[in-house]
Amino acid sequence: MSSGTLFFGTGPWATFDDDHEGPRGGKLLAEVRERSPFAVFCEGGRIAATGDLATLRARHRGALEVDLGARTVVPGFVDPHTHPVFAGSREDEFEWRNTGRTYQEIAREGGGIRKSVRQLRAASDADLVANLRATADAFLALGTTTIEAKSGYGLSPEDELRSLRAVREVAATHPLGIVPTFLGAHEFPDEYRDDREGYVRLLVEEMLPRVVAEGLATACDVFCEEGVFDVGQSRRILKRARELGLAVKIHADEITSCGGAELAAEVGALSADHLVHVSTNGMQDLLQSGVVPILLPATSFVLRLARDAPAKAMMDLGLPVAIATDFNPGSSPTRSMPLVMTFACVRYGLTAAQALTAATVNAAHAIGAGNRIGRLKPGFEADLIALDLPNVRHLPYRFGENFVAVVVKAGEIVVDRRR
Ligand code: NIG
Ligand code: FE
Repeated sequence: MSSGTLFFGTGPWATFDDDHEGPRGGKLLAEVRERSPFAVFCEGGRIAATGDLATLRARHRGALEVDLGARTVVPGFVDPHTHPVFAGSREDEFEWRNTGRTYQEIAREGGGIRKSVRQLRAASDADLVANLRATADAFLALGTTTIEAKSGYGLSPEDELRSLRAVREVAATHPLGIVPTFLGAHEFPDEYRDDREGYVRLLVEEMLPRVVAEGLATACDVFCEEGVFDVGQSRRILKRARELGLAVKIHADEITSCGGAELAAEVGALSADHLVHVSTNGMQDLLQSGVVPILLPATSFVLRLARDAPAKAMMDLGLPVAIATDFNPGSSPTRSMPLVMTFACVRYGLTAAQALTAATVNAAHAIGAGNRIGRLKPGFEADLIALDLPNVRHLPYRFGENFVAVVVKAGEIVVDRRR
């Protein structure tokens, strides 16, 4: 008798089960082999074997069998950039932007991130946990099996710590995989508007060490942007984070070209994110230092940015691009990776195969988990989704509906919408 579960089907399965181990750039970004029929045997939360049904069935008699039919099966999406710990909402700003004001104007007047900071500070721990739990349910229902989750709406030692503790609590009790990032450097809080240096010191001397001492984050991020953290301040924060053993990430060159990508390369970041205004040198630097570029096309759409990230230039260079929702209450209130795939295809010129690679394998590498999630390969976590679609190309094409029928996280069915 064998325990474990045998998932199988006749539809196309996009596995990424070849021998290439790193993030996928160049030709590999576009190469998605669709295998059918196919079967995956899972045990202890991991994929133990893949191949054809008859062989796996003979080897694993007694396994629970799950027939996914003719559905398209892909690895669960990995969303490598989200800001899911917040309270309240900012639909007023959405309307103001649509009727003529810019993100930066609204931010300067005390809206934007600072409004969410006021809302989070007024919320209880229980509210933060309840909101995040509902968000985690929504991610899973849309086929995302792992997210990277940033703090960044607390901006005080206590409020940042309780944001990350909420992440820890939900991560421990919810099937969604959650990888926590400390983003105390998301904005300058109101009480430090006139003492920016003082806030950088607070981050470096108190907040970062406390986050690390409590083991609350695996990475540190900075919003490196004109009017927020400049390159010098970002460098100090990220270097300190590295010294303390954290991985680092950067919101780089989103609204202006300020050297964020170059800094990401210099400090050995896992990822550089946004990159709408990245320079040619910046792209070269990312390639040379193995930093994964994360594109956030839903944000550019919502902010009505005049310019698109130079995705084609990045792909031509061979950069292994990843994509993410950037889920947050201001610039990107979506949790849908399929929608982000659509934007990546329509606005940035990715093919469906490139978008899928960017949303799975490369996204996993962008959060330092590329050896564990993002592929349907023995040894990897058994995270897969079955879609009511005939093949991968339909995924970005049929936007605006949820085609996810089944979500499997660590070998367990956690969403079942089969009809
Ligand atoms: O990635 N750029 C900074 N942070 C978010 C926006 C957060 C907000 O507006 O609340 C972003 O777009
Ligand atoms: Fe962001």
